[in-house]
Amino acid sequence: MALFGKKKGVIGVDIGSSAIKIVELKDTKKGYQLTNYGIVPLPSEVIVDGAIMDSSAIVEAIKNLLAEKKMKTRDAAISVSGHSVIIKKITLPVMTEAELEESIQWEAEQYIPFPISDVNIDFHILEMAPGQPQMDVLIVAVKKDMINDYTAAIAEAGLNPVVVDVDSFALENMYCINYDIVPEETVALVNMGANITNINILKGGTSTLTRDVSVGGRQITNEIQKHAGVSFEDAEILKCGGEVNGVDSKDIDAIVKFGANALVTEVQRSLNFYLSTSHEGKIDRVYLGGGSSKIKGIADVIAERTGFPTELIDPFLKIGFNQKTFDPDALKKDAPLLCVGVGLATRRPGDK
Ligand SMILES: Nc1ncnc2c1ncn2[C@@H]1O[C@H](COP(=O)(O)OP(=O)(O)OP(=O)(O)O)[C@@H](O)[C@H]1O
Ligand SMILES: [Mg+2]
Repeated sequence: MALFGKKKGVIGVDIGSSAIKIVELKDTKKGYQLTNYGIVPLPSEVIVDGAIMDSSAIVEAIKNLLAEKKMKTRDAAISVSGHSVIIKKITLPVMTEAELEESIQWEAEQYIPFPISDVNIDFHILEMAPGQPQMDVLIVAVKKDMINDYTAAIAEAGLNPVVVDVDSFALENMYCINYDIVPEETVALVNMGANITNINILKGGTSTLTRDVSVGGRQITNEIQKHAGVSFEDAEILKCGGEVNGVDSKDIDAIVKFGANALVTEVQRSLNFYLSTSHEGKIDRVYLGGGSSKIKGIADVIAERTGFPTELIDPFLKIGFNQKTFDPDALKKDAPLLCVGVGLATRRPGDK
């Protein structure tokens, strides 16, 4: 228990399938300040569909990054995503938090596609109109195996996993500390990673739909690898606009464009699902994050195809940083990869 001063901070550790990202923030009177961050790439088969296949590679990567960046904080907030994470909004008769705590297993069972004994369940009672007999509850179920694998890897790297979050909620936290919430506005947060794209649609700052779609930039890398007959690493270089001997960059541009279109189609499908199931019928703005939001022109393609204003999100919009410690240009380049990490770094031990 914290008797004096503020509760101690955590580092946000985003274990993605292409890279681990660690972010540390300080909560000051002037708002959040960036105190440290680091990114370390992972080999391609370490994480598959959100599941850890090679935990020693993750442990090593985290240890090295902590040492290289001289990170001293040991409490960590981590997150999970993908098929093993179920997020659903359900409607229940009004009851107290304590009552729901008692009955949540039973209430949630019908909504979870796994045996209830295999998952950890958390819930959040959403705001309810006074006098209504029913309330909306957000339930989150994550396979215990998955949580155990992630927390075990973190612990082996010398960290204390004090918060286990979900990527799309971390994204929401990152958005809420950086952007002004407009009550009637609907925004779609779209975090395009390597294998997974997290989508979280917020109305007035509250989540109304979250979805993890199994698409991302990895598919484009795979296509380049096949087409150009190069290694995974070279295919990544080519995708990111670099050069590799003997490969014509025009061919690569065409593959990236084609792949980006497929990615946009999936994003569009989720946005359309929201539009057809909500009463709203509009999205005011789409914010893109994740490494694959760096694909050239992808915001324009989404804006064109959906008709919604689309821009890259800035996870450091209201976060201060020392320009002597962090090169602004480098930070700007890394920022899209740090969206989840920033959201995680705002969490505190004991948070739900
Ligand atoms: N300049 C760039 N152009 C195109 N793609 C890029 C660029 N920089 C990074 N990427 C891609 O972004 C992806 C990594 O993004 P991110 O770090 O958000 O994913 P991740 O969190 O590791 O993966 P996931 O969450 O899907 O498991 C990779 O596919 C990488 O190739
Ligand atoms: Mg990710």
